Amino acid sequence: MDKHKIKKSKITGIGFHVPEHVVTNQDLSTFMDTSDEWIQIRTGIQKRRWVSRDEAVSDLAIPAAKKAMAEANVFPKDIDLVIVATLSSDYFFPGVSSQLQDKLGLRTVGAFDIKVACSAFVYGISIADQYLRSGTCHTALVVGAEAQTKFINKTTKGRDMAVLFGDGAGAAILQVSNNESGILSTHLHCEGKNLYNLWMEGPGSSSPDQINAMTNEQANTYEPLMNGQEVFKNAVVRFPEVIQEALDHNNLSINDVSLIIPHQANLRIIQSVAKRLNLGLDKMYINIQRYGNTTAASIPIAICEALAEGKICKGDLIILAAFGAGYTWASAAIRW
Ligand code: COA
Repeated sequence: MDKHKIKKSKITGIGFHVPEHVVTNQDLSTFMDTSDEWIQIRTGIQKRRWVSRDEAVSDLAIPAAKKAMAEANVFPKDIDLVIVATLSSDYFFPGVSSQLQDKLGLRTVGAFDIKVACSAFVYGISIADQYLRSGTCHTALVVGAEAQTKFINKTTKGRDMAVLFGDGAGAAILQVSNNESGILSTHLHCEGKNLYNLWMEGPGSSSPDQINAMTNEQANTYEPLMNGQEVFKNAVVRFPEVIQEALDHNNLSINDVSLIIPHQANLRIIQSVAKRLNLGLDKMYINIQRYGNTTAASIPIAICEALAEGKICKGDLIILAAFGAGYTWASAAIRW
């Protein structure tokens, strides 16, 4: 490789794993006031996967990571950085990354979790990309994994969120690229003033007395809350904005894009983004109907399925775009 050329990192292996248990819209309507018709019209979701009572997010993350490692032909000794994107770690602390380091038999390499909600996989890719391009690391494992449904109120009170979310994990191995393919740029954003439109209060140090809060009247703070309409309005602006930012940064136009892989939040959000970008829906990868919104896992799962369906080919320009709690949003431009 020309040593004066700026190095790139590239995804050399990717895999996903979802829990076995399928929950259809019809299933949901047996224990909360909702209907298949309402959910499909408002969100496009038909079914999702839920972890079982004795499954945690590490049970999804580990098999996804093993698949990505196998595809990249990478062995535990090769990995020198682990980043796990999750909101639903097995424990309040430490992060899932510690469990991965142990269970995958990795060396004592740097491993940490990032909590940036639905944008977290793209944030993780961005962090790994910096380490690889600088030469600090050679092989990074980036995982997006969620068991969000463990935290969701599965009664009519929580139906606005319960119908949206699903569980799953996706993982990618990133390595230094020796050719034109790889990550061209990443773009990260946050606007904290809107954070209360999509948040979960506890467990958190904002509580005057966390131990008592967990056992008495504040217990209802331990479920996520969402102002769906505000989130929707912001998402349909931020998605196109951050996609355009990625294109402008690389002197590319929307016509150069082969496929956009958006975070799978809501079919109507994806449709609106396509319209705003003047793009056909065939340029937007969509699998929300099968998995719902799997938060940090949605983009790596979508990349895996898009590859399996032959929708990503060598040389294609792919844009990853995400929006989520925080509010955070992010994109990555990738030459596949
Ligand atoms: N089943 C049936 N009815 C439901 C329901 C459900 N699951 N959830 C809410 N409703 C009801 C509401 O109570 C409300 O009833 P009312 O008119 O009697 O008060 C009615 O449906 C309309 O609610 P509204 O919140 O206005 O619906 P909406 O069209 O905004 O759709 C969302 C709700 C959540 C689907 C939509 O706002 C959304 O997708 N927002 C973005 C969420 C998102 O993507 N979050 C993750 C970001 S990463």
